[in-house]
Amino acid sequence: MSEFVPNISYPTEQKVYADRVKSKLAENGVFFPKATVVTYGCQQNVSDSQRLKGMLRLMGYDIVEDLEKSDFIIFNTCAVRGHAEDRVFGNVGATKKLKKQNPNLMVAVCGCMAQQQAVADKFKESYPYVDIVFGTQVFHRLPEFIYKRLTGGKRVFELELKNEKIVEGVPVDREDRFKGYIPIMYGCDNFCTYCIVPYVRGRERSRSAEVIVAEAKQMVADGYKEIMLLGQNVNSYGKGNDDGINFAKLLRMVNNIEGDFRIRFMTSHPKDCTIELLDAMRDCEKVENHLHLPFQSGNSRVLKAMNRRYTRDDYLSLIKVARERMPDIAFTSDIIVGFPGETYEEFKETLSLVKEVKFASLFTFIYSPREGTPGEKMPDPVSRAEKGKWFDELLKTQDRIQKDYNNGFVGKTVRVLFEEEAPKQDYIIGKSDGTVSVYVKANKDLIGKFADVKVVSNDGVLYGTIV
Ligand code: SAH
Ligand code: SF4
Ligand code: F3S
Repeated sequence: MSEFVPNISYPTEQKVYADRVKSKLAENGVFFPKATVVTYGCQQNVSDSQRLKGMLRLMGYDIVEDLEKSDFIIFNTCAVRGHAEDRVFGNVGATKKLKKQNPNLMVAVCGCMAQQQAVADKFKESYPYVDIVFGTQVFHRLPEFIYKRLTGGKRVFELELKNEKIVEGVPVDREDRFKGYIPIMYGCDNFCTYCIVPYVRGRERSRSAEVIVAEAKQMVADGYKEIMLLGQNVNSYGKGNDDGINFAKLLRMVNNIEGDFRIRFMTSHPKDCTIELLDAMRDCEKVENHLHLPFQSGNSRVLKAMNRRYTRDDYLSLIKVARERMPDIAFTSDIIVGFPGETYEEFKETLSLVKEVKFASLFTFIYSPREGTPGEKMPDPVSRAEKGKWFDELLKTQDRIQKDYNNGFVGKTVRVLFEEEAPKQDYIIGKSDGTVSVYVKANKDLIGKFADVKVVSNDGVLYGTIV
């Protein structure tokens, strides 16, 4: 089912293309067209894929997960680290064979990786069976691209990155019926020296608060229990809009929507994390008790080389200020190990920061050089094998911390949202508003509902019972 945000219209031009695609497919004898969307990358990409699916449904496609049964396959790609890219080339290559089986099959590649000129050129020259390649700022034009190719036009290559206003009203097909994403801003202006995102997503552009609140209201009315506000740097939400609404104010506005639901958000850049935001988090009862605050490195020299624009001390004082307001707040973070020029001594400061803050969980990465970023040109004398050892040391350290952290919940009662069936039979998994997962023996009808759960034991996973 495709949903539209009320009162905001998808451009008529694209609607017309969508109708024409539908007729053209029928004319070609494809009466029940099927499409697969393959997604790589972050929540932002998952959210974009939900909009791709919304548009595909508008064109009459049924969404399936079987490439062999598809008449349209689209790869929504990620470029953040090298190995993400390698997988894409392999998987796109495999569609060549499928095209022989189904002459109606059309193949498209979009997303952050496709946005890179060199990658688009590679698809153009070496992957002649790829019909459509487009970048991150034009994805609302999918009906137009399909129509043009379907009616015998040339292969489509559209990488426009004009940083114009966000096109609203794109239909969205959210897979989950109880939790969903709302992108609030696109792009990034921070240019961390290791990161490709600002180059492939373009400049920061925020959606209007009015549209975001309307989308959130609709989701709550539709029964959603969890809304995740998304952006590469949500803390700089609102820059460039003229309504004066920053992220802290936006949180309060979404929090004021009536209903029983939970608000999450990602990602926050420490340099833009304000007291005003922490106050809003404390005051808003629907906002979860969790802050994802990537610090990347615990050493101030490395942070400077990364262009993160905060020091180790800045970060630690931010944690302190947040804990003063919300004593039980859960922190999570992203860390890069082995940034060019990082020494073992400097890496040890990352370890000590991890021990000091005690994160609920971590997302850890070994540095991956990205073409066109300043980091790529920095001397990088430490071997991959050596970085691997540091990385393992970090994982082991966090493992111990996380066990202690989880043990702290045994005996406590937490409010959870049941999200999915557990790998253990007859159990379902509930998530607290502080990111803790609890296994509960309960009927799976409870998935999508809130409950108070008493945590009773921890054997690597937490177990609990409904109170
Ligand atoms: N906007 C978010 C991060 C988006 S990318 C933020 O600033 O926090 C998600 C994570 O991928 C980053 O936090 C970083 O830890 C990691 N990452 C980005 N580029 C990387 C690279 N070149 N090599 C390894 N990890 C990288
Ligand atoms: Fe990349 Fe830095 Fe922007 Fe995050 S803030 S997306 S790490 S450039
Ligand atoms: Fe990857 Fe693009 Fe997200 S590079 S991490 S999909 S913004």
